[in-house]
Amino acid sequence: MLIAIVYTSESLFDFDMETLKALMVQSRVNNTKHGITGLLLYREREFIQVLEGEEEDVNSAYQHIKNDFRHKRVEAIFKEPIERRYFPNWSMGLCRAEKSATLRDRPLSDLKYDKISVYKLLHEFKRGDM
Ligand SMILES: Cc1cc2nc3c(=O)[nH]c(=O)nc-3n(C[C@H](O)[C@H](O)[C@H](O)COP(=O)(O)O)c2cc1C
Repeated sequence: MLIAIVYTSESLFDFDMETLKALMVQSRVNNTKHGITGLLLYREREFIQVLEGEEEDVNSAYQHIKNDFRHKRVEAIFKEPIERRYFPNWSMGLCRAEKSATLRDRPLSDLKYDKISVYKLLHEFKRGDM
């Protein structure tokens, strides 16, 4: 069964573009191996990530990522079965969310209580609006 997990977390330090890119390169290698696709957004020490794939693979990737010392307060917004992937062509998309119209000044963690905005945000990214 295909599932998606979306979580938010707080980074322990400022991730510059170089560090983010290194994380993305490593993630793409691992995720390709495990059939995981998704998106990682970063803004002002906050992450939001979508992980999609087979249930077992996504659960194990999520557990692994959760234990990464570089972030804390890792909290799933939702975990649910999906009919098809939202990011089929991304082993891990990466974006800085500074320009997001959905977010404006809201912290990413706000999205925990607002699933509709999560989808809007992902849609914005997909359309290339950020
Ligand atoms: C915010 C965040 C998102 C991450 N996303 C992924 C990911 O999508 N895939 C992945 O393999 N590793 C991801 N990582 C890195 C993993 O936590 C871990 O460092 C990496 O998989 C290497 O693990 P290993 O040293 O056990 O091979 C992420 C880390 C952070 C902090």
